Amino acid sequence: MVTHKSERAQYIAYRPIRPSDLEALQEIHASLFPIRYESQFFLNVVNSRDIISWAAVDSSRPYEKADELIAFVTARVVIPSQAEVDDILQCDTSDKNRRLVYILTLGVAQQYRNLGIASSLVREVINYASSIPACRAVYLHVIAYNRPAILFYRRMAFRCLRRLPYFYYINDQHFDAYLYAYHVNGGRSPCSALDLIVAVATYLRSFFMSLTTRLWKHGDVVPAWPKCKEANSLLPNSNRIIQGADSSGLQCV
Ligand SMILES: CC(C)(COP(=O)(O)OP(=O)(O)OC[C@H]1O[C@@H](n2cnc3c(N)ncnc32)[C@H](O)[C@@H]1OP(=O)(O)O)[C@@H](O)C(=O)NCCC(=O)NCCS
Repeated sequence: MVTHKSERAQYIAYRPIRPSDLEALQEIHASLFPIRYESQFFLNVVNSRDIISWAAVDSSRPYEKADELIAFVTARVVIPSQAEVDDILQCDTSDKNRRLVYILTLGVAQQYRNLGIASSLVREVINYASSIPACRAVYLHVIAYNRPAILFYRRMAFRCLRRLPYFYYINDQHFDAYLYAYHVNGGRSPCSALDLIVAVATYLRSFFMSLTTRLWKHGDVVPAWPKCKEANSLLPNSNRIIQGADSSGLQCV
């Protein structure tokens, strides 16, 4: 018997991720992503240490599986770096207290795709970000070949702000990433003429940087954004000031 999409969707429930999800969370990350996440990352997620998260579960499954995680989103509140101010906030450069919410990971188990689950999870993140008065945007990186995710974020009205050449380094290969953002709380304020000139200059700078990086394929050009995935595991990073105690790793999607 074929079960209708909306019928399946009505059994999906959403809740925060908790310590009992640790194993399932690790397994689902391993099955969905081409990189390995450090165990500290999972511990931070399940213990809500500087990371906010939501899980989806299928309540129609047999009792012992009914609370098992079938999808998740993890995110973190960050103080924007200068690169993030330039690319995401653009005209809104005056307020030093502003914050951003960065989506670290998002995934839905294969058999639960296309039921609107990721949309619901990302809406939770957007609502959370909107509830923080200083927060100006939700943003993330997506690897350039991940077409389903790109279509998904476009569908959610995220805007593609930049292509970041050689952003990821996975299994000895470089990959570009796209920077996507969804502005909240008036995060994209109207520009003055000066702001417009700065925005054009920023665009030209990123265009020429991307050109230089492409021409200088194996050179030492340093990107404005830090590369965050190295050699199949996450490296500690650096330039970003992350709100809260544990700022050891920048995890990207
Ligand atoms: C990307 C992903 C999270 C989408 O999850 P999902 O629950 O299937 O997404 P939704 O059902 O909420 O989709 C919402 C919209 O996104 C678009 N979309 C989602 N998956 C798509 C796909 N494979 N192809 C084309 N469009 C897609 C559609 O427009 C869809 O709306 P529609 O069903 O009304 O057409 C899921 O495919 C996934 O887990 N992929 C592997 C992990 C990953 O890539 N994570 C994101 C890294 S940035």
